[in-house]
Amino acid sequence: MGTPLTAMSQCTFEIQSQSVEQTITFGEQLAKHLRAGDWVTLDGELGAGKTHLIRGIAQGMGADGHAVASPTFVLMHEYEPEDLDQPLLIHIDAYRLERSDDLINLGWSDVANEAVMMIEWASKVSEALPVDRLQITLRHVDDHTRAIELTGYGKWEDRMENLPKFSQ
Ligand SMILES: Nc1ncnc2c1ncn2[C@@H]1O[C@H](COP(=O)(O)OP(=O)(O)OP(=O)(O)O)[C@@H](O)[C@H]1O
Ligand SMILES: [Mg+2]
Repeated sequence: MGTPLTAMSQCTFEIQSQSVEQTITFGEQLAKHLRAGDWVTLDGELGAGKTHLIRGIAQGMGADGHAVASPTFVLMHEYEPEDLDQPLLIHIDAYRLERSDDLINLGWSDVANEAVMMIEWASKVSEALPVDRLQITLRHVDDHTRAIELTGYGKWEDRMENLPKFSQ
């Protein structure tokens, strides 16, 4: 089993991942709870594990996880699941965006309702984010360990209790 949940409030919890594999597995488990129209934000310093977590989520949604890399230079990637009943995955890296408006100008708005939106470095564009969102913050604990904190806002508050609380 992984590390037990630390409950901080009803709509926030934290798990610890002890390896890259645990982070990816947690992403795969989390993906089962995501649906079209959802927004997930990821923050945490360089190398905290944001992209690896998204890789796991992509795999869990039936897209090719190996295709997931930090889109730092292209800013936005779109991953199509093999199963067309699954939502698209839109992965944006806001690291190089200067203003919240820049997020809107990336041109995802036509497909947002059919997609799960995942935003790395979301704090850089916080004013452009919807209220209803799952916020994920990753922290280095040591070389192989990362703390992953999840907070639900708006409609996500009620969905938090169903999310996986372990990474194994
Ligand atoms: N438990 C862990 N979970 C995730 N990554 C880990 C873990 N332990 C070590 N790592 C290492 O930390 C790094 C995480 O890289 P990743 O690209 O996912 O981070 P990032 O937060 O997306 O960084 P950036 O802001 O540069 O895009 C990788 O080198 C990975 O091997
Ligand atoms: Mg990254």
